[in-house]
Amino acid sequence: MSGGDEARRAFSWPRPPADITLAGDDVHVWRVWLDLPPSEVARLRQLLSPDERERAARFVSPRDRGRYITGRGALRSILGRYLREPPRSLRFRYSPHGKPSLADPLPLRFNLAHSSGLALIAVAWGREIGVDVEIIRAGVADELIARRFFSPREVEELIGLAEEKRQAAFFACWTCKEAYLKARGEGLSIPLDRFAVSVDPDRPAALRYVEGAAKEVARWTLCRLHPWPGYAAALAVEGHGWRLSCWQWDDPPAGRAKRPGP
Ligand SMILES: CC(C)(COP(=O)(O)OP(=O)(O)OC[C@H]1O[C@@H](n2cnc3c(N)ncnc32)[C@H](O)[C@@H]1OP(=O)(O)O)[C@@H](O)C(=O)NCCC(=O)NCCS
Repeated sequence: MSGGDEARRAFSWPRPPADITLAGDDVHVWRVWLDLPPSEVARLRQLLSPDERERAARFVSPRDRGRYITGRGALRSILGRYLREPPRSLRFRYSPHGKPSLADPLPLRFNLAHSSGLALIAVAWGREIGVDVEIIRAGVADELIARRFFSPREVEELIGLAEEKRQAAFFACWTCKEAYLKARGEGLSIPLDRFAVSVDPDRPAALRYVEGAAKEVARWTLCRLHPWPGYAAALAVEGHGWRLSCWQWDDPPAGRAKRPGP
């Protein structure tokens, strides 16, 4: 297989089977393209709750409004598929730091992340989960920003890497940290310099330490995702031995959403 084939395969997230199920040790991540035509956005808006519609209405930019509606519509449609419930009937509640979860006491856990027209939705039974995706932007991955957001150990590892690896390492570190924070659901109440993840993008992702919480390292598994060229992404999942599947969300049917060009 050529390098080009390998790269394409790495980003190929298939459409799921119609009878998709989520077993106890499965973790599913869905890729959702957020820039849909207005008619599709209007259809997905029908799935939203009144508070979600209100929030959508507060977006000044039509593009951001459409992306929010599509993300929430896709989330409802995916969760409804596993729960065999109409997407519109699902009710969410929010942690004090804003993490949504199902209001009914069901063990289905999920998390959503979006960046520049692409969303990821991660789902599992009974395990806390966090996902992050970032478009790789030039000029962000510099040492000053790393020193502001990363722990001293991460900064040291980053600047110890070869120059040409640093951008990928910066975003690998950023997305892993964010995925872990999002799995915990406590936002920035966990200071960013009090925990460390692995930085080298060519080595497996891992949580290295969490200050004052030695058991955390054994509690979580981190992994990097490759949703699309030009994006970095990571997943943090409670426990070990789970099986990852990555799917393309295909409702509405493929080809209608505008994809950012690689
Ligand atoms: C929400 C938060 C956790 C991430 O924000 P973000 O990176 O802008 O946004 P993402 O696209 O990754 O995630 C947003 C989604 O996460 C979910 N979410 C909101 N609050 C959350 C929380 N506290 N924990 C987990 N998920 C949360 C929501 O579904 C939200 O999407 P929606 O509002 O469209 O439904 C943010 O509050 C935060 O604290 N970010 C830290 C930022 C930072 O400094 N990071 C440095 C990392 S090194």
